[in-house]
Amino acid sequence: MTILIKGGTVVGPSGPYSGDVLVDGETIAAIFAPGQAPEGPEIIDATGKYVIPGAIDAHTHMQMPFGGTEASDTFDTGTRAAAIGGTTTIIDFAIQRYGEVVQDGLAAWHAKTADQCHIDYGFHMIIGGVDDDSLKAMDQLVASEGITSFKLFMAYPGVFYSDDGQILRAMQKARENGAMIMMHAENGPAIDVLVKQALERGETDPVFHGLTRPQELEAEATSRAIWLAAVAADCPLYIVHLSASKALEQVRNARDLGRNVFAETCPQYLYLTLEDQLGAPGFEGAKWVCSTPLRSGKESHRADLWQGLRTNDLSVVSTDHCPFCMKDQKEMGIGDFSKIPNGIGSVEHRVDLLYQGVVEKKLSLARWVETIATTPARMFGMYPKKGIIAPGSDADIVLYDPNGRTRISVETHHMNMDYSAWEGWEIDGKVDTVLSRGEVIASGGEYKGRKGRGKYVPRSLSDYLV
Ligand code: URP
Ligand code: ZN
Ligand code: ZN
Repeated sequence: MTILIKGGTVVGPSGPYSGDVLVDGETIAAIFAPGQAPEGPEIIDATGKYVIPGAIDAHTHMQMPFGGTEASDTFDTGTRAAAIGGTTTIIDFAIQRYGEVVQDGLAAWHAKTADQCHIDYGFHMIIGGVDDDSLKAMDQLVASEGITSFKLFMAYPGVFYSDDGQILRAMQKARENGAMIMMHAENGPAIDVLVKQALERGETDPVFHGLTRPQELEAEATSRAIWLAAVAADCPLYIVHLSASKALEQVRNARDLGRNVFAETCPQYLYLTLEDQLGAPGFEGAKWVCSTPLRSGKESHRADLWQGLRTNDLSVVSTDHCPFCMKDQKEMGIGDFSKIPNGIGSVEHRVDLLYQGVVEKKLSLARWVETIATTPARMFGMYPKKGIIAPGSDADIVLYDPNGRTRISVETHHMNMDYSAWEGWEIDGKVDTVLSRGEVIASGGEYKGRKGRGKYVPRSLSDYLV
């Protein structure tokens, strides 16, 4: 089937232009100057809309077992919500826990996703136990499984934590096979000391989750990861969910030295604060318990992160979508903040939330598209199949209405959460129509796709490495 997306403003990494996009089957066949396209195909009128590549969320945790419970979005509910919000590909984290065989962990994630996803998906692999076997498995995943990025944790001792020696070994392996090391950069052992001391003082409210994870412990871990990667012959390193000015400074310094160091941030760090959200009265703040934590609004974190996005010291905006309901899940931490499952859900809202950066003149249109679509595709080896409106690319396309309005609420969202971290937000812009590999899967806020249509995307090495 051929479709012509006519009359819109195509936005790519090099900026906006007027063009008509011809879709043939699952791919983009051609882009015509206005009025030059052949007659015949079904027309989608894009007048007044931006035509952007389907967004890619490079950091999600659907139905992830974590914190004594499981993330509340399944691959079914989470990818459906993502689709409605303009995201057409996710990269989720398959998990190898300490003592498990890496390939078994991966097989478990393939089993969870089989026939469940509404959009395309890839996997990163969490290595929870670095040893001879898991290092060997990294080679096999890169060579044969389309998995070219591995997440390690400097936080969560006793759960996913790797010590510096293990991190160095994994980085050396990644340097050999070309993979990207993704790092959760917080000093877990030091945080555990602060958490214990806080609880002993009777400081049990959600806000102490943030106060026991000061930015210095994010900056220190970020710096340590950067220097360990240097020892591993400049192994490619990607810092996940970067939240704080001092951590950003470490990344900026490394990049100024020409290092293979990259970082992402997430919408929650660009907009929300420790005082206003995490510090909400009573147990309300539990809604925003995530790690790294929300930072103080009295400091310059949010402004610094927006600047980092403009200067490319922050390359990507992902959600770190890891939703938990208040009832029975976040509530596990009443009386002890350390038992609140860590995570926020935003997979449905990232495209809209980042568009506010354009509205507020913090980002150009091109940079909006780069940070939510093109760069994640290039960073994680899916480009040019994904992340760009170009002939030959998958027809993953979003029509975005800059004159629309979006109101975010638990009453209307599609994520499997009993609250919204963005309740009542009224924002400019609206996802109008979403195509995934040539199929209209959402239009006017109505979902038209189906469970199981999403395909696994095996990934190549990152484009950003020479
Ligand atoms: O709070 C978070 N970020 N939960 C998900 C796990 C992780 O560290 O990304
Ligand atoms: Zn993490
Ligand atoms: Zn995460």
